[in-house]
Amino acid sequence: MDYGMRNRMSRIFKPGDDRTVMLAVDHGYFQGPTTGLVRPAETIAPLAPLADTLMLTRGVLRNCVDPGLDVPVVLRVSGGTSVLKDDLSDEEITVSMRDAVRLNAAGVAMSVFVGSPHERRTIKGLADLVDEANEFGVPVLAVTAVGKDMVRDARYLGLACRIAAEMGASIVKTYHCQGFESVVAGCPAPVVIAGGKKLEEKAALELTFNAIRDGARGVDMGRNIFQSDCPVGMLKAVRAIVHDGASVAQGYEVYLSEKSKKAR
Ligand code: R5P
Repeated sequence: MDYGMRNRMSRIFKPGDDRTVMLAVDHGYFQGPTTGLVRPAETIAPLAPLADTLMLTRGVLRNCVDPGLDVPVVLRVSGGTSVLKDDLSDEEITVSMRDAVRLNAAGVAMSVFVGSPHERRTIKGLADLVDEANEFGVPVLAVTAVGKDMVRDARYLGLACRIAAEMGASIVKTYHCQGFESVVAGCPAPVVIAGGKKLEEKAALELTFNAIRDGARGVDMGRNIFQSDCPVGMLKAVRAIVHDGASVAQGYEVYLSEKSKKAR
C-alpha cells in the first residue's frame, strides 16, 4: 500500500484502535429528503465534529458541510436510481475520481448488488472504480446492497462481502446477522456495518455492540443516529461502544444522559 492510501485509511480508521464511527448521511441520493435529512446542513452540523468520518454525496458535501471542518469524508460515487423504481440495482458511477480528489475525499463508496438484475454491472463497476481510485491512492468502500428479495443471512452477506473484497475494495460495508463472525472471517478487507432501519435506541446499541464483538471494525450508521430523538446522544453512545469498550448498558446511559441535557 502506498503512502496516500495508507494515510487515507488511517484518517478513516482511527490510529489507536483501528476502528471507525462513520456517520452515513447519503440516503438522499435515492430516497430524496428522507426523515431526519430534510435539511442536511442542520442534521450534519452538530454531528460532524463527533464522527470519525462522514459518508455523503458531493452535492450535500459542497452545500451543507463547512469546509473548515476537519472531518474525513467518504464520498458516495454511485447512483442513478430512485425509490420510485422497484429495482434499485441499476446504479452507475456518478462522480469522477478527479472531482472526488478535488473534494479531498478520504475514500469513495459505491454499492454492489450481488444477486440482483444488475449484479454484473455493479461488480465490474466496483473493479473499475478500484483501478481508478488506486491511481490516486484513494480507498474504495463497497456497500453490499441487499435487494428486497434477498435474505440478509451469513451465507448471502458472506458471499457479497467476499466478492467485494476480491474485486479490491479496501473497506466493505454490510449488515450484521446471525453468524456474522463467518462473514468477517471470509472477508479479507475490514468490515463495517450499516445500521439499517430505525430501531429503538437500546436495540441499535445492542446491534453496534454485537457487530464489534463479532469482528466489525466499526459502523457506517445513519438512520439509527439521525432519526433518533437525540442524535448527538446516540452518536456519543455508539462511539463509547466502538472506541471505549462500553457495554450496551453503559452506551445507553451515555445516550440517556445526553438526552436529559437536551431536555433541560
Ligand atoms: C444507503 O442509503 C446508504 O448506503 C447508507 O449509507 C447505509 O444504508 C447506512 O445507513 P443506515 O445506517 O441508515 O442503514
